[in-house]
Parts: sequence; structure tokens; C-alpha cells
Amino acid sequence: MKFFIDTANLSQIREANELGVLDGVTTNPSLMAKEGIQGVENCKKHYVEICNIVDGDVSAEVIATDFAGMIKEGEELAALHPNIVVKVPCIADGIKAIKYFTGKGIRTNCTLIFSPGQALLAAKAGATYVSPFVGRLDDISSDGIELVSKIVDMFTYYGYPTQVLAASIRSTQHIIQCIEAGADVATCPLAAIKGLLNHPLTDIGLAKFLEDYKKVNG
Ligand code: E4P
Repeated sequence: MKFFIDTANLSQIREANELGVLDGVTTNPSLMAKEGIQGVENCKKHYVEICNIVDGDVSAEVIATDFAGMIKEGEELAALHPNIVVKVPCIADGIKAIKYFTGKGIRTNCTLIFSPGQALLAAKAGATYVSPFVGRLDDISSDGIELVSKIVDMFTYYGYPTQVLAASIRSTQHIIQCIEAGADVATCPLAAIKGLLNHPLTDIGLAKFLEDYKKVNG
């Protein structure tokens, strides 16, 4: 399973990248705003900075919600760097735009997926990734992991090459559940990725190894 980090924060992206296991980055307009990045040109510069840190796919989301606007923005974003994946919302014009981008060889991530039907439309349009939002479904007492699992089964059954990118991951446990559900990618906050390292028996075992070493070697 691939790991993406879900942030526009450059120091967190660097820290995750230095672990050596990072496969990509996802951003969205809220994450860009959280870093205080204003205006189209500054957003573009920021995406290029991210691409220069991480050797992997970087999702950059369009702001337009009409077909012509999405095409214009998406083409500009894709031209910034070969690693850019154009992120498009799962609305009618978004599906049309994904179909257009697929024809042009531009890779896409269909975002805001909350049902298997939405994922099917995106896959049929040729999306590179679909992003089911796990945490936001859990927030409304639905089952986000179950959705990931249903989409994985559907794509496997019909042989769609579209990858399932589990998004809106809130915890380390969500990552484990995504592995069990067969997600191709999980995009996660840094804390959730680092949480995978934690095990008390690792800490106890390491302390004992060092203690025994010191007994003999001083
Ligand atoms: C990433 O592609 C999504 O935009 C992001 O994971 C949404 O996460 P949130 O539900 O925590 O805002």
C-alpha cells in the first residue's frame, strides 16, 4: 500500500519524506488555506515546492466547478510538474473533465467520493485515483472503511485500473483498517503515519537489548 501525506505544510512533508516511505502528497483548498497560501500564482509556486521535495504523485485541486473552468485550471496545474495529479470534485462537470483529462494523458484524482456509484462513474471516466472520505463518513455515523472495501471489491471485480486512495484518514487505526480493506493508497496526517511506529514491546525490547549490551561492554 502506498502512503501519501495529507497536508500542504512543507515542514511536515519534509519530515514524512525523510522517513523514506512517502509515496506522494494530497492537498485540498482547505489545507492550502490553512498554510495561508493566497492567490493562484502562490498556489502554483507552493505545488512546485511540494513536487521538489517528494518524488511521487502530488494532488492539486481545481477551484472551478464548471467544465471549461476545470479544464483550464487542470491543464495549467498539470503543466507545473510531471508529478501533479489534477484533483477534481465528483460532480457532473467533474466527471466530464476527468474523461477529457484522461484523453489528454493528464492524471486525475476524483475527490469527495461518498458512495460506490460515484466511484464507478469516476473509474469509467478514467480517473487515476478515487478518494473515498473515510473520516467524514464516520463523522455522520456511517462506515467509511466499509465504503473503501466496497470500492476495492468493485474495481477488482470489473478490472478497473483506478486506484482507491483512502482519504480523510484521522487515525493510525484507520490506516490499519485501510490495509485490511485493500486500499491502494492511504493519505494520512503525519501523526497517524508516525503512530504506526508505536509499540510498547519495541520500546521494552530495545531498552533490554541496550541494558544487556552495557552489562558486558560498559
Ligand atoms: C484528501 O484528499 C482530502 O481532501 C482530505 O483527506 C480530507 O480530509 P478531512 O476530512 O480530514 O478534511
